[in-house]
Amino acid sequence: MFDLDQFIADCRAALVADHSHKLVHEVVARAVSDPAGVLRQLGEPKRAQLQKLYHASDLTILNVIWAPTMTIMPHDHRMWAVIGLYTGREDNIFWRRIKGDPSGRVEATGARALSVRDAEPLGHNIIHSVTNPLPRLTGAIHVYGGDFFAAERSEWDPESLREERFDAERAVRRFEEANANGHWAE
Ligand SMILES: [Fe+2]
Repeated sequence: MFDLDQFIADCRAALVADHSHKLVHEVVARAVSDPAGVLRQLGEPKRAQLQKLYHASDLTILNVIWAPTMTIMPHDHRMWAVIGLYTGREDNIFWRRIKGDPSGRVEATGARALSVRDAEPLGHNIIHSVTNPLPRLTGAIHVYGGDFFAAERSEWDPESLREERFDAERAVRRFEEANANGHWAE
């Protein structure tokens, strides 16, 4: 049975044993292998949000609820991440920098559709954009091997694909804007 305090303790222990995402990946995979258990503990998604479950300088755990059909522009993390889906779907597009481009533009290199029970590790240098293709809320546990909110990193304008500075507060606001524009939030 998924228990949030135990999950956080397991992630911390995994990180101490191995600073890569390897053991944390196993912890997340185990958690989302019982999506009903995660839903019972975290609650049925009701509104789009980046909910902090745990936040430290070396580890951040978020409950990410994507609004129906919401898309977030390409961004990097500059730390590893593990994404575990417990309801809905996350479609990821992966990008890479165009060599020598003066505005730091990116080009798409691949895609991965994440379904319930999937736990996907993302490397330190990954650039991805995420879409929830469903007409309902999607819920995922995102674990980051660092301070998700403080790290200096980039996002890319969805139209020009030019590099800009990532702003964590603006990212949180986008979830609130999605709620304001939608009809699913309480
Ligand atoms: Fe991301």
